[in-house]
Amino acid sequence: MHPMLNVAVKAARRAGTVINRASLNLERLQIDRKQHNDFVTEVDKAAEAAIIETLSEAYPTHGFLAEETGEHNSNAENVWIIDPLDGTTNFIHGFPQYAVSIALSVNGVTQQAVVYDPTRDELFTATRGAGAYLDRRRLRVGNQDRLANALIGTGFPYREDQDLEKYLKIFADMSRQCAGLRRPGAASLDLAYVAAGRYDGFFESDLKPWDMAAGALLITEAGGLIGTYRGEEGFLKSGEVMAGNPRIYAQMVQCLSKYSAT
Ligand code: IPD
Ligand code: CA
Ligand code: CA
Repeated sequence: MHPMLNVAVKAARRAGTVINRASLNLERLQIDRKQHNDFVTEVDKAAEAAIIETLSEAYPTHGFLAEETGEHNSNAENVWIIDPLDGTTNFIHGFPQYAVSIALSVNGVTQQAVVYDPTRDELFTATRGAGAYLDRRRLRVGNQDRLANALIGTGFPYREDQDLEKYLKIFADMSRQCAGLRRPGAASLDLAYVAAGRYDGFFESDLKPWDMAAGALLITEAGGLIGTYRGEEGFLKSGEVMAGNPRIYAQMVQCLSKYSAT
């Protein structure tokens, strides 16, 4: 394993320990609201602190873009992009679908990725050019070739500033064209599941770089494609993301490009 990936895995597992311990005592959880339907707990903050401590001990000159503490030295050559607890709403409710997501971006290109599911102890990792893995097993995207037979993941709008009406049109269109739509509620795991072939595709709007950076490398290293609803680059900035195995991706572009906001 690449030494930088190794440190990222150590950081993710430390965060996972913080999260698992807190999950045994959910009734004691201190929950704050960032805005309507957007929550943060002391667990998100403690997990992020554990990750940043581990990474900055090993790499004191590296920068960070982290969900809860924002940007530090983010013009550095090496920047860690961190979601310490992706799927906070699930976590608060004891719904076991959440993850730690850590990516290393070098001059703007993601080189290392970890998505760790502490409820199942599943570790998804990738190094650019060296493949994606679930624990020790090499990952390949699925080989489904017809959207009509495909299982597709998505995320619904839930904040007031998001366009629910538009999403409902996309939902209706896609649900008629595929075999099933799922909304488990943790975007980093949704992307990891595309890499693992558990889904054939995924789409969502309004995501943040920390939701996607690690999952995106998992997908490309597993032979999949990721981009905007038009199938173009720039999804990390626009937050509009679509992913799938190459055949399903092409059919998703047909369905979703007319809804693109990019
Ligand atoms: C959220 C989850 C969710 C997605 C949201 C994200 P958080 O992350 O990934 O699946 O639909 O857009 O904000 O806030 O739980 O880290
Ligand atoms: Ca997130
Ligand atoms: Ca989060």
